Amino acid sequence: MYTLTIETAQDAYEVEALYDLCFAPGREALSSYRLRDDILPVAELNQVARDAEGILAGAIRYWPVHVGQADALILGPVAVHPTRQGEGLAAVLIRETLALATRLGWERVLLVGDAPYYARFGFTRLHAVVMPPPTNPERVLGRALVAGAWEGVTGPVTRWRSN
Ligand SMILES: CC(C)(COP(=O)(O)OP(=O)(O)OC[C@H]1O[C@@H](n2cnc3c(N)ncnc32)[C@H](O)[C@@H]1OP(=O)(O)O)[C@@H](O)C(=O)NCCC(=O)NCCS
Repeated sequence: MYTLTIETAQDAYEVEALYDLCFAPGREALSSYRLRDDILPVAELNQVARDAEGILAGAIRYWPVHVGQADALILGPVAVHPTRQGEGLAAVLIRETLALATRLGWERVLLVGDAPYYARFGFTRLHAVVMPPPTNPERVLGRALVAGAWEGVTGPVTRWRSN
């Protein structure tokens, strides 16, 4: 019913509009956005979901970051249009892109979000990882894509330096 494709430049305006609809005003003032400014996203992981008519129903993006000396992905934003929520579309977007990230060789993912939602995808609290303030530490969650990948990975989340 939905087709997932890599987000293109032609999709970007619609994706931004979807995020504006789904998130509170001022979303780009969040500290997590400072980790993304002027950094190229991981193109293959930025995916859009369109219905059979081509209408945009959901979108997900990822950026690379460093945590201490380690590389990681930051997942988000992910959003599903309010008229399409509760159909499992976000779950498909998240699971498909996490699987792709693993195939691409990424080892760990973090995000800032609601633990009760992301627990179903295996995300747990990252106690030793510090997002730029102001971020509620209880919302800093991670998932290993390779067994044990978060073990010993500690410190601040910083902007990607390798591109
Ligand atoms: C969160 C969001 C992406 C989920 O999309 P979705 O396609 O409806 O998600 P799914 O259909 O896969 O899952 C829906 C389930 O998640 C639950 N859920 C949604 N948001 C939740 C939250 N913040 N905390 C706990 N559970 C949540 C729903 O109650 C529903 O539960 P059910 O399966 O028991 O009925 C969507 O609601 C959205 O775009 N919200 C606004 C933007 C946002 O908050 N994005 C996440 C940033 S952290």
